[in-house]
Amino acid sequence: MALERTLSIIKPDAVAKNVIGEIYSRFEKAGLKVVASKMKQLSRAEAEGFYAVHRERPFFNALVEFMISGPVMIQVLQGENAMQKNRDLMGATNPKEAAAGTIRADFADSIDANAVHGSDSVENAAIEIAYFFPATDVYAR
Ligand code: TYD
Repeated sequence: MALERTLSIIKPDAVAKNVIGEIYSRFEKAGLKVVASKMKQLSRAEAEGFYAVHRERPFFNALVEFMISGPVMIQVLQGENAMQKNRDLMGATNPKEAAAGTIRADFADSIDANAVHGSDSVENAAIEIAYFFPATDVYAR
């Protein structure tokens, strides 16, 4: 198994629900370590850049509006198979399809307000981590 890093974002809906600690607790119980973290109000340009891969999708504008509707909590998670482990903790994109006990099943209201982001490949994780954190702000733990 590979020691990996992945990018996680607690989205504005979950920050507003005051469940940051609850979600961090799930990371820790799964053996993931928070090795960088910051709360941030994304600018429109930052949100558009982060989701640039979805630029042509019909939901792009609504997604950007949602992501800038309040502060987000951004973290780098480190652990064995961190990318897939975090995806498993998150559950399916649509909370109606998310397995019981996953973050999205428990805290997300809809496919557009779905509580968390997690990198979907190790390659994307490296790009997304660099998007938000200079290497000196990510700690070896
Ligand atoms: P996607 O990368 O497909 O999902 P995930 O976050 O599980 O990796 O989509 C990115 C985000 O775009 C998703 O978290 C919420 C939003 N989205 C919609 O609002 N409507 C949709 O139909 C889809 C597929 C995504």
